[in-house]
Amino acid sequence: MEIREVGVVGCGLMGSGIAQVSAAAGFSTTVVEASRELADRGMANISKRLERLVEKGALSAGERAALGKRLRAGTELSQLAQCDLVIEAITEDAEEKCRFWGTLDPLLRPDAIRASNTSSVSITRMMMATSRPERFLGMHFFNPVPVMTLVELVKTLATDSDVYESAVAFTRKLGKTAVHTTDRPGFIVNRLLVPYLTDAVRALEEGVGTITDIDRAMKLGCNHPMGPFVLMDYIGLDTMYSIANILYEEFREPRFAPPGLLKRLVIAGRLGRKSGKGFYDYSDPQAPKPLDQFERL
Ligand code: CAA
Repeated sequence: MEIREVGVVGCGLMGSGIAQVSAAAGFSTTVVEASRELADRGMANISKRLERLVEKGALSAGERAALGKRLRAGTELSQLAQCDLVIEAITEDAEEKCRFWGTLDPLLRPDAIRASNTSSVSITRMMMATSRPERFLGMHFFNPVPVMTLVELVKTLATDSDVYESAVAFTRKLGKTAVHTTDRPGFIVNRLLVPYLTDAVRALEEGVGTITDIDRAMKLGCNHPMGPFVLMDYIGLDTMYSIANILYEEFREPRFAPPGLLKRLVIAGRLGRKSGKGFYDYSDPQAPKPLDQFERL
């Protein structure tokens, strides 16, 4: 099936990135948000990123204008009725996502490909909330979407192989690389990444090193672009906590359990960059200060 019309639901961090790369790759793209205000905010973030690309010379003014014509934002799910592919990127809550798919499904074309960008909710659960499990799969993008070149494609027991192949072709047209995975918590990347990150918290709790030293060690010693604490703040500590819990619930192995410090930070509303504080304090965004310089953890 050839994909021409793409729908994205949610214009937050992930949804706005997906909508941007879809329009940039030449697809007519409609992004739907819950309110006009959220839609406008998401579109303003996309515009800001596109302006930066124009300033850097990575995008011509003409290409930027053409991209703008291919991308529209709305607040009605019925605007997705003609889409060949709809990618859902709403909040990471299993109940909410299943409810949402039950509402969206009858509004879509029967043959439309239904995809979720979830990082941790069961694809199988969501597909069973629709009338077309065989047209459903997971398409997991990475943050920041315009930069990260991986998409995890999650095939369930029901996904038709032509749906999967169309998703592979679409991913390639976005300039990204697909990896195939099955519907297990964390898929590939988070299954390996999240235990590494939560182990960094445990190492901190045990006094192996300070936040600064652990981050520096992994950046310089392993050539990672970000140390584990910077990365957790970037991902969001609430997201980290939720993925760790889902992994632990499934596998019941202590290495997957979220550490106490992570839980306390989330309860205290310190969610990372987005809340201004996490493992670092972002009062001065140019010079974030590590939490353990000021507080006993
Ligand atoms: N949107 C678009 N472009 C962005 C961006 C954003 N949010 N942030 C950075 N960039 C671009 C910059 O414009 C710059 O582009 P040019 O090279 O063309 O100038 C490039 O990325 C590099 O940016 P910077 O020089 O500002 O900073 P950097 O070199 O430190 O790179 C980074 C920033 C790309 C985010 C890099 O630090 C990195 O790769 N970090 C790791 C990110 C990562 O691991 N993401 C996965 C998180 S896990 C996840 O997403 C899955 C999940 O389910 C939780």
